[in-house]
Amino acid sequence: MSDVRDLSALNSSAQELVRLSVGVREKAYCPYSRFKVGAALVCDDGTTFTGVNVENSSYGATICAERSALVAAVTAGHRKFKRICVSAEATSTTGFISPCGVCRQFMSEFGDFDVMLVRPSDKRVLFTSVHHLLPINLDPLQEFLTTGS
Ligand code: THU
Repeated sequence: MSDVRDLSALNSSAQELVRLSVGVREKAYCPYSRFKVGAALVCDDGTTFTGVNVENSSYGATICAERSALVAAVTAGHRKFKRICVSAEATSTTGFISPCGVCRQFMSEFGDFDVMLVRPSDKRVLFTSVHHLLPINLDPLQEFLTTGS
């Protein structure tokens, strides 16, 4: 399930991850939406990768920050992840921006891991997980590779 905490209540590694995602968010390429998103991903060996949303004049070609970070990590040889932290400013004072459906599916390809959603303005952090965001998920390695068809 999910819970919300202040940055100050987090341990030092979680705080550092929040800072990384908030910092990289400034590099977002979003001339169309002007909506900046930053992501910081921790691999099982502790290596971190960052990503931002990169938009395109052909809107559907846009890639979200979460997928940018995952693509960078997989390209470097990582496939097991502990946690992803996503920073984006919600318009409401209490809400959180959460990953789109494509990103939920993309993350779930790599199993269950923690998801932290951050509001950069007040550093409130919502804790959830990939499987909480996408329950009863399609697991291609189970479904496709074990059937042999
Ligand atoms: N976006 C992300 O990068 N991640 C999310 O979790 C939500 C949406 C991007 C896609 C697009 O560039 C902009 O935010 C507006 O949807």
